[in-house]
Amino acid sequence: MTPDPREEAARLRGLIEHHRALYYQEDRSEISDEMFDSLMERLRSIEEARPDLRTPDSPTLRVGAAPLAGFDTVEHSTPMLSLDNVFSESEFRAFEARITKELGLSSPPGYSVEPKLDGVAVSLVYEDGMLARGATRGDGTLGEDVTPNLRTVRSIPLSIAVPGRFEVRGEVLFLKADFERMNAARERNGEKLFANPRNSASGSLRQLDSRITAARPLTFFAYSCPTPPEGVATQSGMLEALSGLGFLVPPGCTRAAGAGRISEEVARMGSERDALPFEIDGVVIKLDPFDQAARMGILSHSPRWAVAWKFPALETTARVVSISFGVGRTGRLTPVAELEPARLGGVTVTRATLHNEDELRRKDVRPGDLVAVRRAGEVIPEIVGSLGNPDGERPAPFPFPADCPVCGGPVVRPEGESAHRCMNPSCPARIRESLLHWASRGAMDIRGLGDTLADRLVGSGLVKELADLYRLTAADLSGIERMGSKSASSLLAQIDSSRKPPLDRMLAGLGIPGVGRVAAQSLALGFGSLEGLAAASREQMMTVEGIGPVLAGSLHLFFRDPVTRGGLDSLLAAGVSPRAEEGQRGGAGRLSGLTIVFTGTIGIPREEARELAERHGAKVTESVSTSTSLVVAGPGAGSKLERARELGVRVSDWPGFMEMIGP
Ligand code: IVH
Repeated sequence: MTPDPREEAARLRGLIEHHRALYYQEDRSEISDEMFDSLMERLRSIEEARPDLRTPDSPTLRVGAAPLAGFDTVEHSTPMLSLDNVFSESEFRAFEARITKELGLSSPPGYSVEPKLDGVAVSLVYEDGMLARGATRGDGTLGEDVTPNLRTVRSIPLSIAVPGRFEVRGEVLFLKADFERMNAARERNGEKLFANPRNSASGSLRQLDSRITAARPLTFFAYSCPTPPEGVATQSGMLEALSGLGFLVPPGCTRAAGAGRISEEVARMGSERDALPFEIDGVVIKLDPFDQAARMGILSHSPRWAVAWKFPALETTARVVSISFGVGRTGRLTPVAELEPARLGGVTVTRATLHNEDELRRKDVRPGDLVAVRRAGEVIPEIVGSLGNPDGERPAPFPFPADCPVCGGPVVRPEGESAHRCMNPSCPARIRESLLHWASRGAMDIRGLGDTLADRLVGSGLVKELADLYRLTAADLSGIERMGSKSASSLLAQIDSSRKPPLDRMLAGLGIPGVGRVAAQSLALGFGSLEGLAAASREQMMTVEGIGPVLAGSLHLFFRDPVTRGGLDSLLAAGVSPRAEEGQRGGAGRLSGLTIVFTGTIGIPREEARELAERHGAKVTESVSTSTSLVVAGPGAGSKLERARELGVRVSDWPGFMEMIGP
């Protein structure tokens, strides 16, 4: 017997709704995705044959409908309010004090504590159980009717078991994982990436073509009802009731009383923030009993019974004034967006980095654009993405300069690199950065040589290369703006005391690409002298722990390039000469960090050689591998020596080894 299509459609809708709720509310499934799709397909075909059987809560409506000409305006039944913000416990205590006083309470009130979801507020109106209308918050009084779009949001029930008119409010957002998946797919398809989850949730919801919204994985969380269900007397009870009706409510909501406990809850949510599946920008604290909330009442735009305790913002939007280029000590050009001042994480930001040309193109940032800016531990914030220019036309995509913006020298993007570089070694910007790096803590530690002085030394032409620092006289410095004789002589004394730097600090200060403190220390330890290192082959450099082919290549180039080598020679000629440090060359640890293999007939019995090497801090092994630093070979050496040559491991004879240990 063929089933009655009306009954079958109803049964299918029930089944689909059951599996949908299971998936979204309980995060589990009883059937495969394919099964779910075939239930949908079957319902779709029934409805196509019998359009009269399509109910307003049919899940087939979730795929979106034909585009609208525009959105209708809807008036909210009661205004959709915003919240007052607090940023500290003392501000929260002031909020609590008002409540305690006004309600005449003898103990701190109880609150519902909820994550403050960083999405888009919407209102859903159900009539006799059917989703009848969905609207954006708009200005709080009038919103936009986005019903077809909200129907496509799968976590919104299309029908609920409540008679009459019932309104639910909450937040539409992208879960972080959905957002990332969506952006990854857009990148694969060569589409422009979305800048941040909040703005793209808002954009996705305000599409005239709801089929576009349907393709965006939005999620809805419910957190309030203007008229709570019968018998529900608290906000926390209402969240439970909403969950019972099939809505998702924000995970992690709790109840707590008193500012002290609230402060703990805020700290807890703050520490869990990164691990949460959605973005939050604070915690919403609402008086829990509705009768107390009603007695507190509302102000024009915000309730007096709730407050948002905001986290310091890690991301904000700002307007790009212009795009400029910073030139680093290796000549690398970094595009920087100059911004209209914006508050971010407790500071005012005016610049944000765009890293390189590929980033600039990918994020398509242009002057006049509104951009999302994020601070993530770096000193200079970065641009997450552009929101375009909502108020005007955009200029053509920003060209990457062909000449250095500081010295006018040629700019080249070397093959296979992401960076453009100014190729002029005397570019004042490069000299300034080299100078700052040389004077920095990890290198010469010349206190008092900071940004301003570096600008002045380079700007006045007194310093055209690092070595010029060591030729400065008191007379030179007297011509420098705001340089008293006292600070001049203290600076000269500091410069003077950096003439004999430890080798590792000198290596770290030279600004050899990729060579920082750690690599510099290993190199100092491994080679003991600047001459030794400068003369070494790439293979010999790679015998040092932590030095791989890239660093070895960079070092090799540095010592062979006439310009960089010239700068170093000039430094040596100006009287800078590295000193061997205790523990580097001399003392018990002369060989520390080295892995040594002995082979062939060496000067003393093998066991004694081992003891000697170990006493100087080396590790001795039997076989040669890529982690071997040195092979000490005597007459008759065979396969181990061959292997060392194959791998490019440094080889020494016995007298050479004894020299390394020193007297
Ligand atoms: S309650 C009358 N609860 O924050 C109180 N709002 O700044 C307002 N929001 O427009 C609604 N999470 O978009 C409430 N758990 C939460 C919330 C929340 C985020 C948003 C909402 C509102 C804005 C107020």
